[in-house]
Amino acid sequence: NGGNSESRGALIVLEGLDRSGKTSQSSRLLTYLEGLGHSAESWRFPDRSTNVGQMISSYLSNKSQLDDHTIHLLFSANRWEKRSLMETKLKTGTILIVDRYSYSGVAFSSAKGLDIEWCKAPEIGLPAPDLVVFLDIQPEKAAERGGYGAERYEQLEFQRKVAHCYQSLHDASWKIIDACQPIEDIWKHLQESIGLCHDMSERQTPFLPLAKCWR
Ligand code: TYD
Repeated sequence: NGGNSESRGALIVLEGLDRSGKTSQSSRLLTYLEGLGHSAESWRFPDRSTNVGQMISSYLSNKSQLDDHTIHLLFSANRWEKRSLMETKLKTGTILIVDRYSYSGVAFSSAKGLDIEWCKAPEIGLPAPDLVVFLDIQPEKAAERGGYGAERYEQLEFQRKVAHCYQSLHDASWKIIDACQPIEDIWKHLQESIGLCHDMSERQTPFLPLAKCWR
């Protein structure tokens, strides 16, 4: 079957607008998977710990200004610089739960008016997720939750545009979860989406070999 696909870890991506609840669901998912005895890690993009990540962080907090194309490529570079570690982890059986990925990259930049195909181009070839979970919330509802900080994109008008761009990226494989439900219900749907409540350990071929993004 083309190698060790049976033992590799899954790449699970959580996407959604700011304040959609991704972060708390991903930490819950991590605890849950570890509790089941899986090797799992929770990652997020941007990864602000690298040099590129620090440039991104400075841009997001309005401490520096960058051309829209430039920041797009930095977000993308930030994923590419983690690519080989991601692949190593997955190949050695670690499940990665990733808070934002390539879809954030394309949705947020195309929301600024950049050409969507141009936005996808530098993302082509990154490891493709086995599952994309989209926490679906209306921008107005997300804004009501408070906690929009001072970061550059945390504004209702812009989040509306991002929501629109995310819509054009959905495909049938995405699991869309209503993020306005009670938190316990979101969690239940997330568990179902992952299929882990149905005992992943007994599945013979959980995942196909890693595919490439946007291909
Ligand atoms: P994140 O660190 O998830 O936000 P938070 O500060 O709420 O923890 O992401 C920061 C912002 O960067 C968020 O508004 C989404 C945006 N973003 C992009 O524009 N492109 C990308 O490729 C990624 C990963 C995030």
